[in-house]
Amino acid sequence: MLVSMKDMLQHALRDGYAVGQFNINNLEWVGAVLSTGQQLRSPIILGVSGGTVKHMLGLKCIHDIVVNAMDYLQIDIPVALHLDHGTTREACEAAIEAGFSSIMFDGSHLPFAENLAITRHLVDLAHSRGISVEAELGTIAGSEDGIVNSEVIYADPQECFTLVSETQVDCLAAALGSTHGLYKGKAKLGFAEMKAISELVKVPLVLHGGTGIADDDIRKAIACGTAKINVNTENMYAWCEAVKALFAADINDPRKVIQQGLLPVREMVARRIQLFGSQNRG
Ligand code: 13P
Repeated sequence: MLVSMKDMLQHALRDGYAVGQFNINNLEWVGAVLSTGQQLRSPIILGVSGGTVKHMLGLKCIHDIVVNAMDYLQIDIPVALHLDHGTTREACEAAIEAGFSSIMFDGSHLPFAENLAITRHLVDLAHSRGISVEAELGTIAGSEDGIVNSEVIYADPQECFTLVSETQVDCLAAALGSTHGLYKGKAKLGFAEMKAISELVKVPLVLHGGTGIADDDIRKAIACGTAKINVNTENMYAWCEAVKALFAADINDPRKVIQQGLLPVREMVARRIQLFGSQNRG
C-alpha cells in the first residue's frame, strides 16, 4: 500500500536520517528502486516529474504500475508515490485524483501570497485524503525537465515560517544553494540558514539536487534538519553510461538493455540509502 510521506519524514527528522526521493523513468526503473529499498528495508519515495508523467502515459498509468509492481514484488516497506515539482494547482489536483500518496506544489515562481494561497488549498484537499504535501520557497538553480533557473535565491526564513504555520504543509524545500543537475564545481549549501529555518518551521526540510553533493555535506544537511533528499541526475547518467557500453556488445534484446542499464542505478540507490541512514527503517 502507498503511504503519505508525513510519518516517514517525521521519524527521519526525529532520529537524524533522511529518506531518499528517487525519480522514476519507466516500469523497470520502478522495479529497480522498489526492490533495492526492499532489500535494505528502507522507506522509499518515488518521484514523478512532469516529463515522466507524459513519458509514462499519464498519472493513472503510473499509479497503477507502481501499485501492481509493489504487489508483484511483494514490497512491504513504506512507499510514497510523489508528484515532483507540480507547478500548478491543477497538476497537483490531478495527481491527488489519480491516487498519488504525496504531492509537491512548487509555487516558488509565484508571488508569496499566491504561493501561500494555493499551498493552503492543496494541503486542505490532500490532508482530507491522508496525502502529504511538500512546498517550496526560494530558487533552486539548474535545470530539470526543461525548467531552467540560472540563479540561486535563498529561501527567506520569515516566509518559510509563515508558509508552514499558515498551511500546515508536511515538509519544506527551502532553497539554500542546491542545484538540479550537475554542479559547476563544489556544491555550496547554506548550512547555518538551513539549521535556522529548521528550528523556525519545525517540519522536515527537503534537499533538492542531491546529485553531486559531497557525502560530508549530505551528513551536515541531515544534522541541520533535512529529512528528505531528492536524487535523479546521477541515476539517469549511470543508466545512460551503462547502456552506451552495451551497444558495442551487439545486444539486440531491449529488455536486456533496459535491465543492464539499471544495474548501476540499483548500486547508486543502495549507496544513497546507506549514506542517508534510512536502511532498516522501513
Ligand atoms: P538531481 O537531478 O540534481 O539529483 O536533483 C533531483 C531533484 O531535486 C528532483 O526534484
